[in-house]
Amino acid sequence: MAKKPIGAPMRRTDAVSKASGAEKYLSDMYFEGMLYARMVRSGIPRGNITHISLPPLPDGYRFITYKDIPEGGKNELVMIKKDYHCFAEDKVRYIGETIGLLVGPDRSVLADLLEEIEITYERLTPAITIEEGLSCKGGAFVGEDNLYCDFTINKGDVDEVLSQADRIIEDEIITGWQEHVHLETNAALAMPEGDTFAVYVSAQCPFYVRKSIAGLINRSPEDVIVRQTTTGGAFGGKEHFPDVLAGPVLVAAYVLRKPVQLVFDRHEDGAFSVKRHPSRTLFKTALDKQGNILGMDIDVVYNAGGYESCSYVVLQRGVFHATGVYNIPVSRVRGRAVATNTFPSDAFRGFGAPQTLFAIETHLCHLANELKIDPLELKSKYFIKQGETTVTNGHIFEKVVIPEMLEQVKKASKYDRKSKTYQRGSGKGIGLSFYNHGGAFTGNGEQMIIKAKARLHKRTDGFVEILVGSTEMGQGLQTAFTKIVADVLDIDRKWVVYPNPDTSLVSDSGPTVASRSTMIVGKLLENAALKMKERWDEAEDFYTEDDYVHPEGHPWNQETFQGDAYIAYGWGVCAVEVEVDSLTNEVITKGIWSSHDVGVPIDELVVHGQVNGGIIQSLGYAAMEKLDFHPTKGFKQIGLSDYIIPTSMDFPEQSSSLVHNPYPYGPSGAKGMGELVFNGASAAFVDAVSRAIDKDIRAIPIPPETITELLV
Ligand code: MTE
Ligand code: MOS
Repeated sequence: MAKKPIGAPMRRTDAVSKASGAEKYLSDMYFEGMLYARMVRSGIPRGNITHISLPPLPDGYRFITYKDIPEGGKNELVMIKKDYHCFAEDKVRYIGETIGLLVGPDRSVLADLLEEIEITYERLTPAITIEEGLSCKGGAFVGEDNLYCDFTINKGDVDEVLSQADRIIEDEIITGWQEHVHLETNAALAMPEGDTFAVYVSAQCPFYVRKSIAGLINRSPEDVIVRQTTTGGAFGGKEHFPDVLAGPVLVAAYVLRKPVQLVFDRHEDGAFSVKRHPSRTLFKTALDKQGNILGMDIDVVYNAGGYESCSYVVLQRGVFHATGVYNIPVSRVRGRAVATNTFPSDAFRGFGAPQTLFAIETHLCHLANELKIDPLELKSKYFIKQGETTVTNGHIFEKVVIPEMLEQVKKASKYDRKSKTYQRGSGKGIGLSFYNHGGAFTGNGEQMIIKAKARLHKRTDGFVEILVGSTEMGQGLQTAFTKIVADVLDIDRKWVVYPNPDTSLVSDSGPTVASRSTMIVGKLLENAALKMKERWDEAEDFYTEDDYVHPEGHPWNQETFQGDAYIAYGWGVCAVEVEVDSLTNEVITKGIWSSHDVGVPIDELVVHGQVNGGIIQSLGYAAMEKLDFHPTKGFKQIGLSDYIIPTSMDFPEQSSSLVHNPYPYGPSGAKGMGELVFNGASAAFVDAVSRAIDKDIRAIPIPPETITELLV
């Protein structure tokens, strides 16, 4: 019988345990003598702590602060920079900043004690918005200008084309905060284990956690064993943020010599966790007499909040995606991440790209409107092609199959007919968007920073064990990895096991971010499996390994940001059709059609699940996920009755297709796609609504009350 193609769908390895409720999460764990912890946080956005008044603590209860960090330990979390404190000392920079940890055996006693803690402050004027951050309201608190980073990339001379332009169209596009709403809230647990410490954590990157927190207790990363617990969703929110929980619980476990568990409730998770960066993108686009685009001057600012965390890299990705899927002949993109007194912004599916991709798509629609042509007519003139130059003066290596994908989406959605017959302002509209996502770390990061290694173990009991630090968080990685290995070894998938990683047992295959797992780590596993196959008949158990090698011919300069920012991209086209209720201004989505180039899917069902989820998350971002900030109280919409995320009642069934476009360096030709599927639907939705109501839309989200404001 012919072997099935690898992409043929199989039941997910984690389907039954998760769907049946049998799976254990961190909050289900208990160790003998375990204590519970609650965070004590800053109640103000900016100021100095003048006094902390504690109620009398019963026996067995402790309040842990920076003063408990042992001799030689440093009060810092090591992320990309070391600016993030584990515990605030005298100053606070945002509402929710960790001041201490209240620890004890009974959770209800902890809750009562928490209410009795009183902290007094000397309040300082906070900066909340991008504008307030840039103007250093209340005085700069990061450097002299409140900027964590500021850089500019040029393709050609934009000043020259601006001076030659027949006209210059200016535009401003705004995006808001977005909360991850992973089903499982953030959680961490630490305990002494022999000479070392064990940390259990719901996280994407166990090796990041180890590196970040070991220095708090003056130990090396190897002395802290991090074990990922089954993670109920992450979406980037568990990339660096788990350090913020794991650090304090490690200090508490060190001091008390007992297991200490910290689990956020839903309300805490909404109010006091990282969010997607709000953004402001300004365009100055130079047009000639015929309406051709000569060049674009783009200014991108991300609101990074109270600490930098990974904003520098999020911003880079945003800047490198700023001209979208288009070959804009000349461009200048400036990127700044501004410090404000809001909760630190962090990774969120798309990692900076969704903001600028939304901006370029929406700006091009505005240009088309100005030129009185269909946006598709304008956009299709500039689709980037194989061999053409990117915004960083790098090249596109793969065949760009947007034209085929567009044909599929046009046909399925009947775009041509609908875009003609639905008059602007008729209450009906269909919108389109085009997007991509650079796979894996930017530039030479995989080679210079990550240096991934993957290991396989052939056991004597007949099982093959995958030993990597990559994590399953709902995206289907267990299924993908076990399939890749079983396919090479030509064995049934049930003989391949992939337990949640433990940093003392697995190789460091890098973080589970940047949609890199299948494309990078999956390829290493494929190679390790090939090596295993050659030795298959050996009687003893043995290991095989593979190390990452960057494909040649892809120069990148990390100082000047010139060269190939990414070797391969995933690509997407999405159409959304809407009807706007003329009485309530509610938007009813009538159809969602998409096509994606993910190279070759490792499992069609997993890819389908990612497409469905990513698109809905993206539509929520544009349509309803509103998060406002009150300057003295913090985020306003923190429970799920206020922060509205889409349900199956809000959007119709989707139709999606895939194009096969094998990527030579990916396992079986696969590329990254976990974030790609988020990057575009929001722009298609806004394009559709904008046509339906005949108004240019410059900011998301657009709940009905915002549409009402646009219409008056
Ligand atoms: N899908 C689910 N169900 N849950 C998640 O937490 N995270 C996304 C995406 N898809 C996520 C998800 C993010 S932010 C990334 S970077 C990728 O999955 C990471 O996984 P990959 O490398 O396997 O694509
Ligand atoms: Mo994904 S935002 O890179 O974790």
